[in-house]
Amino acid sequence: MCGIVGYIGHEPAVSRLLGGLRELEYRGYDSAGIALLQADGLRCFKAVGKLSNLAAKLGDFESCGPVTAIGHTRWATHGKPTEANAHPHGLTHSQVVHNGIIENHVALRAALQTPFLSQTDSEVIVHLFERHLALRTGVEDPALAAFRATLDDLEGAYAILLISETEPGRIFFARKGSPLQLGFAEGGCHFASSDAPLVGLCTEALYLEDGQWGVANAEALILFDALGREVEPSSRLLPATSLAARKEGFRYFMEKEIYEQPRVLADILTGRLRNGAVVLDELGLQWLLPISSVTLCACGTSYHAALAGSYLLERLARVPARVEIASEFRYREPVLDPTGLFVVISQSGETADTLEAIKLAKTQGLATLALCNVDNSSIVREAARTLLLRAGIEKGVASTKAFSAQVLTLWLLALYWGQARGLLAGERHAIELAALNAVRDVMRVQRGTHERIQRLSKRYLHGHGFFFIGRDLFYPLALEGALKLKEISYLHAEGYPAGEMKHGPIALADAELFTIALMARSSLYEKVKSNVEELSAREATIIAISTEQFDLADDLIQIRPYAHPMLEFFEMLVVVQLLAMEIAVRLGNDVDMPRNLAKSVTVE
Ligand code: M6R
Repeated sequence: MCGIVGYIGHEPAVSRLLGGLRELEYRGYDSAGIALLQADGLRCFKAVGKLSNLAAKLGDFESCGPVTAIGHTRWATHGKPTEANAHPHGLTHSQVVHNGIIENHVALRAALQTPFLSQTDSEVIVHLFERHLALRTGVEDPALAAFRATLDDLEGAYAILLISETEPGRIFFARKGSPLQLGFAEGGCHFASSDAPLVGLCTEALYLEDGQWGVANAEALILFDALGREVEPSSRLLPATSLAARKEGFRYFMEKEIYEQPRVLADILTGRLRNGAVVLDELGLQWLLPISSVTLCACGTSYHAALAGSYLLERLARVPARVEIASEFRYREPVLDPTGLFVVISQSGETADTLEAIKLAKTQGLATLALCNVDNSSIVREAARTLLLRAGIEKGVASTKAFSAQVLTLWLLALYWGQARGLLAGERHAIELAALNAVRDVMRVQRGTHERIQRLSKRYLHGHGFFFIGRDLFYPLALEGALKLKEISYLHAEGYPAGEMKHGPIALADAELFTIALMARSSLYEKVKSNVEELSAREATIIAISTEQFDLADDLIQIRPYAHPMLEFFEMLVVVQLLAMEIAVRLGNDVDMPRNLAKSVTVE
């Protein structure tokens, strides 16, 4: 997702900023820009697409002498990836870069009553700053006061750097919900939204806490907390290499992405829970309400999300939902409901089978919607509407955070639709919203759970196969758990509906058949328990994931109790992801780049 860099000093700034932005490229972006303030004034350069386009635009331009500079890579959320929407955003004498989402930007734009150059939520920041600065005459440090007043106006999540011609040699900064750090070196002061751009330039970094803000020059900073009290900055050592920095202390990208899930889920919810309801501005009720049914279509992990989505859409919105594997769908001459909605789900937006499926649905006249992690991808360009997944770039070939983002987005879709159809009101609605608000904490990895899974994993490196079993929503989760395991451990694993085991697969049961039982307390617990008892009676080795003690389990991975099945779903998801990873680690496999697999499957 978006990246930020900043620099105050005497060294050439253009090469520093471009170098820093290159370190953030791996997070994904679709436009980039920098703004520099020197003795001869403030200049801004922006380009759509890769950093090479920005570099080409800059040509051999380089700063000379004292410079204050900010840079950004943008991953579009509000408005298309155009030059106008790229950061920095400027007005008469200031420029700003911003990561995150300003939730109240519509109200702020209306109140400002001034023309805007971009469609972004971020542009309001620079307007507010200049407006506040114009009003603050006769106060000590008017720019700092104006910056504080600007922050007071903002709702949502942000990491912000702001520079102004009135304030050479100073960068105003703030963090709330989006990471931002800074470090001092001999050459000056450096800012970045993650460690990688700082590695090699600084040895230590100050990691801003949520709510902290302030102003820096080339040698020092003043730092405040959310209440405006000055606080003492304290720095920590930076990682030694930029690859290590990109993994942010984790052993693998997959591990980092599992741990990142709470932040991803928070980003997805940002701006979408308003006045006690789910709001999906991208869709609109007029578009959604006439639709009579939904077909969800995808491949691999995204197919598992589609399956979970079908349970949610039928249950919460009472819309008939069917699910299709894209590679099958293409050739089986499907008969589709012309008044239906065709939803494709894809992390990459480039999966060939899914892309062809949406084209086919369009030829039959269906409304189309893409749930996708990559804006401007082929699938997004085909779809009439898009819900971006906001998961940030996923490096691990085995999908983790994209899956949780897909499921949460489908849950939001089901709730939005259910609300629109008047099906969710009163206590039921309140329960759903409370669960949505809890989901971020549920996905936070519990240190004890991870350690237990690490220890347990050594017992499950052999055997003749794994069955992941569950019912209802926990069946798609079982499929996903099995896929994760087989992708990176190369052990045979299957996901199965728990109630189906007795119709065949139970023939395989013996001590070397490892059954991962997803025993959700909130959903058909007694039924799953009987299914597991049948397997245990035939000597299968049972690994139960549950809130409950279960006497027949050979091993139990205990999760926290929740009344809402989606909360059990998300906590169990973390468990199956970690279990797959720890088994693969013990087997010595390349967790991030498993054999034979590609991150984006652009062939049939
Ligand atoms: O980019 P997509 O979501 O369209 O990709 C679909 C599958 O190729 C993908 O989910 C694959 O199954 C992953 N390796 C799962 O971890």
